[in-house]
Amino acid sequence: MINKKVEDICNRQVEREGYSSNLYLAMASWAEVNGLAGVAGWLYVQAEEEKLHMLKFIKYINERGGKAVMPAFKKPPAEFKSVEDLFKEVLKHEEFVTASINEIVALTLAEKDFNTHNFLLWFVFEQVEEEASAKAILDKIRLVGKNNMYQLDRDILSLRTPAAGPAANTQAAQ
Ligand SMILES: [Fe+2]
Ligand SMILES: [Fe+2]
Repeated sequence: MINKKVEDICNRQVEREGYSSNLYLAMASWAEVNGLAGVAGWLYVQAEEEKLHMLKFIKYINERGGKAVMPAFKKPPAEFKSVEDLFKEVLKHEEFVTASINEIVALTLAEKDFNTHNFLLWFVFEQVEEEASAKAILDKIRLVGKNNMYQLDRDILSLRTPAAGPAANTQAAQ
């Protein structure tokens, strides 16, 4: 059985993963209406992954005898200055999520909740990948030049890693 403190912080993460999904949908929509079909495609897939992350937390909380509660989500921004700026936002947001996951990990250790600790390890690995992929795209933007988005937009989907997180744990995302 999950304790109340751990349940609450996991519910906070339900909101954060859900917001991540909405944020990436907002970014995808901006990219799509600005003729960046590749960038939009990358972000739509990313939004789906974040939805799966939210579902993992919902199902875990409920499985452990808690209750996942659907939060209200704040409205994500609708405008972005440039593709470079957008991906800087992605990286900043992923760093925020990493800090958030680390905070939950620390709480599970303090509360000696080793089941939740084990559940969180998938997310610890996942965040390494999430930050690395945002950084890799920012590097590519610098290489092609921030005013030359044609090439990046054409190639960005090939930069996706095939599956999120360590393969052994992906079944939990289904
Ligand atoms: Fe996530
Ligand atoms: Fe993420």
